[in-house]
Amino acid sequence: MASEGTEKKTRREFLNFILGGGFTALFGAVFYPVLRFVMPPAKSEAFGGSVSAARIGELPPNSGKIFPLGESPGLLVHTAEGEYKAFSAVCTHLSCTVQYRPDLGHIWCACHNGHYDLTGKNVAGPPPRPLTEYPVTLSGDNVIVSPSRGA
Ligand code: FES
Repeated sequence: MASEGTEKKTRREFLNFILGGGFTALFGAVFYPVLRFVMPPAKSEAFGGSVSAARIGELPPNSGKIFPLGESPGLLVHTAEGEYKAFSAVCTHLSCTVQYRPDLGHIWCACHNGHYDLTGKNVAGPPPRPLTEYPVTLSGDNVIVSPSRGA
């Protein structure tokens, strides 16, 4: 009899341990993303400097390139007309990385089929706002993007 009681207690402890672990995992899975969304990041994600996004001649006309812009991706587009344009590559819908589509001649987000024109304006699909556009200058052999100067 005593061993049966001990065995039940052990089973109960085991079940409590498993359930407790499950609740802890559920709590983390549900509340951690909510806390990350609500709490501001420890340091600013804004990027204030200038970067060389590409070498002149690296991108043929009607093409684009993703480049690092601080902690976020940037998108450099060399238009079919030969103009360089730069944008934040973070989709304004749910933050997927956008890309330039040469076949469409504009910017596209693969996540939910969002479309932006070459001014960054959201023109189709779910994106609610335009992409942020950044000034581009040519310096030596480099295409320079300067987010700090605003667009
Ligand atoms: S994240 Fe780009 S369209 Fe949804």
